[in-house]
Amino acid sequence: MPKVTVPKDQLGRVNFVDRVFLITGKPHTSVNPLTGPRKRKPQTEREREREMATATTTGGGTSGEGPKIVWNQPQQRFETEDKKAYIQYALRDGGRVMDIVHTFVPPSKRGLGLASHLCVSAFRHAKTNSMSVVPTCSYVSDTFLPRNPTWNSLLYSEDLKSHM
Ligand code: COA
Repeated sequence: MPKVTVPKDQLGRVNFVDRVFLITGKPHTSVNPLTGPRKRKPQTEREREREMATATTTGGGTSGEGPKIVWNQPQQRFETEDKKAYIQYALRDGGRVMDIVHTFVPPSKRGLGLASHLCVSAFRHAKTNSMSVVPTCSYVSDTFLPRNPTWNSLLYSEDLKSHM
């Protein structure tokens, strides 16, 4: 990189970006060395959902990509590919409400955030299909939602749970 010299008295006339380039020989970037590149805000509904999923899986005790979760529509479940872990729901109000009734993870896989991944799949599905959610399952109401409060926006009603 050829070194460019600008007389000190002219430096004030050079804008900040060019000045960084002239002094360091490297282009100016706004990357903070401590926090890394600035994150672009999600632009589309799909991007927003992806971000929510990432946030929730992280909050649920895992990071990065989670296990593959499959929608088993006939049995009203979201489950792992081996079907051993699942979240069970029932449809209410003509299919407009997803009542999450039970979550199950085999003992050998507990504490790794698997139930959280199952919840994210169920909540994403509800969101995509404009459904409300009733968190009958205690894992969802007492653990998943307090740790991932962004999903509270999908809840049907606190009162409804006891009457359904
Ligand atoms: N209600 C609320 N929270 C519960 C819970 C329950 N019945 N059982 C466990 N949790 C909490 C744990 O305290 C744990 O908290 P910690 O992270 O502070 O230790 C947290 O869930 C673990 O989260 P995660 O790793 O995402 O869950 P998991 O993959 O271990 O699965 C269950 C959690 C509840 C699905 C699993 O323990 C299970 O299948 N239990 C038997 C069935 C059951 O009780 N289901 C819930 C009621 S429908």
